[in-house]
Amino acid sequence: MPTDIVILAAGKGTRMKSDTAKVLHPLAGKPLLGHVIDTARGLGEDSQITVVIGHDSESVQKAFSQSPVNWVEQRQQLGTGHAVMEAAPLLRDNARVLVLYGDVPLIRRQTLEQLLSAVDDNTLALLTVELDDPAGYGRILRDREGNVRGIVEEKDAGEEEKTIREVNTGVLAAPARALKNWLPRLGNDNAQGEYYLTDLIAMARGDGFGIRAQQPAFSWETQGVNSRRQLQELERRHQQNLAVALMEAGVSIADASRFDCRGTLTAGNDGFIDINCLFEGRVTLGSRVVIGPNCVIRDASIADDVTIKANTVIEGPVTIEAGAEVGPFARLRAGTLLSRGAKVGNFVETKKSEIGPGSKVNHLSYIGDAAIGERVNVGAGTITCNYDGVNKHRTEIGDDAFIGSNTAIVAPATIGRGATIGAGSTISSDVPDDQLAVARARQCNIPGWQRPAKKQKD
Ligand code: UD1
Ligand code: MG
Repeated sequence: MPTDIVILAAGKGTRMKSDTAKVLHPLAGKPLLGHVIDTARGLGEDSQITVVIGHDSESVQKAFSQSPVNWVEQRQQLGTGHAVMEAAPLLRDNARVLVLYGDVPLIRRQTLEQLLSAVDDNTLALLTVELDDPAGYGRILRDREGNVRGIVEEKDAGEEEKTIREVNTGVLAAPARALKNWLPRLGNDNAQGEYYLTDLIAMARGDGFGIRAQQPAFSWETQGVNSRRQLQELERRHQQNLAVALMEAGVSIADASRFDCRGTLTAGNDGFIDINCLFEGRVTLGSRVVIGPNCVIRDASIADDVTIKANTVIEGPVTIEAGAEVGPFARLRAGTLLSRGAKVGNFVETKKSEIGPGSKVNHLSYIGDAAIGERVNVGAGTITCNYDGVNKHRTEIGDDAFIGSNTAIVAPATIGRGATIGAGSTISSDVPDDQLAVARARQCNIPGWQRPAKKQKD
């Protein structure tokens, strides 16, 4: 059977106290709904996803304009049953239908696959959890034999029913044909005047269906986001999960509670990530990469044996080859290529620049729009003056060149192989191979110089 997934996301999310639709609030840098859609997409090639939207539907749809999903607008939020009813015309008769919530971001694919495998032409599957405090949730009603016979919502439950600790997570799966038959039969004669999806359970049972209740492996899988506090809790849970997965893959992490990844991070063996690092976008680390504390690294490909020292910021795309060293306090911007064994030290900014194998830019420099060869030493305070106020210009520095401290290279400029530049020079024309360029005022010493004396006040 193909799988049709219906994601409910029409609710307002009043408790977020936000002008932004709840499902657009980010977890690990990705909207809540994005997590659910991505998990749903993992359920197979022939699956089809329909998202039911209502509040702020325009911005939700816009945020996912690239996603291959169907959109259904539920103009009035008349209940979860009504929401699925709105999606019904898009459901394929031969499909199994899986209902998910757009504000429950951490549900695992494995859990859903297991639930779906329990569905057949005469069986409905339901995800339930036992809670110490079940207040607010729909309670699972079972008969004497322990079979599920229905769900009663908190507001409709009697005192005895309220003591039941097994609750409905909202996730269920059923054959589409049966679902389409039941949905129009739902009523709204209940405490909230809503069309409850949960009423399907008793209906299915009345039609002789088997009801299979399963539990997720982890309770956080079915936790929803209703408040910013719950969002933060799930964020930490998710980050913890990512940190644990990295450790299991062979990377040491100083403190899993001070690790954040808002994107994808892959790493080889025996790396070490110190406290308070943030990874964004797509970051790949080779083996034995050591990352010091307080680094922010976005879109970077970092090869084996690289060391990134404390407080380094990388705003990629950036490529760092094996054995290179960066930081502390370095900023590598987009288009930086740091070749094998190169070093970029403290308070150095690089942009659209290639720094050749074994070359060093160790202190207080700006290197932009430059190509630096092998074994070049760029002295402290060297600046490539790449911008004339209108256009950007390139600097090229040949192998084995030595750039003295506090040099300003006014681009476009080519510094030849093996050239030497005297400290404090302002280089405004090319320097040939192996020559010394000195471009600064000559020093003159004044013998017998007297310092001014302090004037006496009247
Ligand atoms: C629902 C279940 C309850 C379960 C709980 C789990 C029903 C009747 N009750 O309760 O048994 O324990 O979830 O969290 O199903 N939504 C729409 N359109 C609507 C109403 C809701 O799209 O008209 C969406 C919401 O955006 C949300 C989800 O459906 O993502 C659940 O709605 P919510 O109001 O939170 O469910 P509850 O009434 O709390
Ligand atoms: Mg409700």
